[in-house]
Amino acid sequence: MSGAKVLVVDAGGRGNAIAHAFARSPLVERVYVAPGNAGSSMMAKCEIALSRGTPIKEIPNLVSFARAEGIDLTFVGPEGYLSDGIVNVFSKEGLEIVGPQREATILEGSKCDTKDFLRAIGVPIPRHQNFSNPDEAKEYASAFYRDNPKKNLVVKADGLAAGKGSIVCSSREEAVSTIERIMVEPKLFGDAGRRVDIEERLAGRELMFFAVTDGRTVLPLESAMDYKRAFSPDEGVAIRLFNKLSGNPNLENNPNTGGMGGYSPHPWLDSDLTDRIMETIAVPTIKGFKEVTGFEYSGMIYFGLMICEEGGEKVPKVLEINVRLGDPEAEVILPRLETDMYLLSRAILDGELDTIDLKWSSEACVGVCAISGRVVKPVTSGAVEEERPGYPGPHYTNMPIRGLDKVDPDVLVYHNGTAFGTDAAGNEQLYTTGGRVLTVVGRGASLAEAREKTYRNVRKIRFNGIRYRKDIGLFPELAK
Ligand code: AMP
Ligand code: GLY
Repeated sequence: MSGAKVLVVDAGGRGNAIAHAFARSPLVERVYVAPGNAGSSMMAKCEIALSRGTPIKEIPNLVSFARAEGIDLTFVGPEGYLSDGIVNVFSKEGLEIVGPQREATILEGSKCDTKDFLRAIGVPIPRHQNFSNPDEAKEYASAFYRDNPKKNLVVKADGLAAGKGSIVCSSREEAVSTIERIMVEPKLFGDAGRRVDIEERLAGRELMFFAVTDGRTVLPLESAMDYKRAFSPDEGVAIRLFNKLSGNPNLENNPNTGGMGGYSPHPWLDSDLTDRIMETIAVPTIKGFKEVTGFEYSGMIYFGLMICEEGGEKVPKVLEINVRLGDPEAEVILPRLETDMYLLSRAILDGELDTIDLKWSSEACVGVCAISGRVVKPVTSGAVEEERPGYPGPHYTNMPIRGLDKVDPDVLVYHNGTAFGTDAAGNEQLYTTGGRVLTVVGRGASLAEAREKTYRNVRKIRFNGIRYRKDIGLFPELAK
């Protein structure tokens, strides 16, 4: 009998990691990735899904590809395809696909509705209120600061805002001006700011928690420590330069990114805290979603939590929900998965997740993202010679990448933003295409060993403007 054919829908490093997990299954013969990137065709059994030589992006074309190739199972990475209804479309066509249906993506797509839903089913969240009228929102904020002089607010645009829609405020003035900037023309996040969710700013430790579900059974995944800020805390000079070049008057602001790296296992997510999160948050959310909306949630789910201390107890509260795996969290979690990814996916589809006992390698994984950093004089990008601050701000792409052939064979290199092209001499060459370019993942018996391997190898990679944080896997208390 020939093996299964899998289609992974994702353009980034998470997609590389998902494809790699499927490729490790002896049941899988071929993994296609759409739209993928250069890395998708550099792993054994994996290739980019092509239609007439071009990567496939649109849902109807993905359906045609799945039919023509006889794809047995499709797995979706990013939120965009899910909220566009890829799962609904594939299912209607009788094609098997893992991921939440469009109706469930509201959990990521609307912060206001999600907080109302969580409150209604008794899942712990910060004190919050939604507003569609800016004057009422400002009145609420002013009254909050008057009644709670020691507390603060977080103002969140309701809709998707590329992960930047939540603004943590430190004064009444900041909260009021943030409401104004989000809700009144020219709206900072466009239509996403038609409504705002205003929350009490909580103190505690942040934790990203991942789980998988078939709608009935919910299983916790291994977790990862993530590093969201662009620079390590000791890079004051680089932070100020970044802000100067970005035109940001707040020179000390260490900007948020999609993630600069991470490691797994998480240093302080123990089994007690995992049980508590499962009992008070993950299971009630999945069951409650079915009860309240009638729609079953199936696939991966990721909770952004604040672990608050209340009366000597750890109380996890939900700050946000994502309907997918994190990137780059997937790149350090999935290499540790020993359970067959194809059987796991089949169990999700068949509603038999209760038969799965997830197994994980005890090895540590450290992932460092190499990003398109500051470039003074681009050498390959044409005539323009302006200095750019680098990701997460404006950055150059199309820089040749060298040194991947020197990377140790046991070190994983997942590609976030790369493509093959042809250099001036007509040779095939790998180029950067995005802000995050590569995630280098070293594995070891200890965090220190994995970290040493990762950094020894990331140093072998070169492209104009390459930058990475040097502290991934160090000082967990400082991770941000
Ligand atoms: P969100 O987009 O809701 O995940 O928020 C982005 C970031 O803002 C979080 O990772 C937290 O660091 C911070 N944040 C959001 N909500 C709160 C809150 N209620 N209290 C404290 N920090 C928050
Ligand atoms: N690393 C954060 C995210 O995937 O949303």
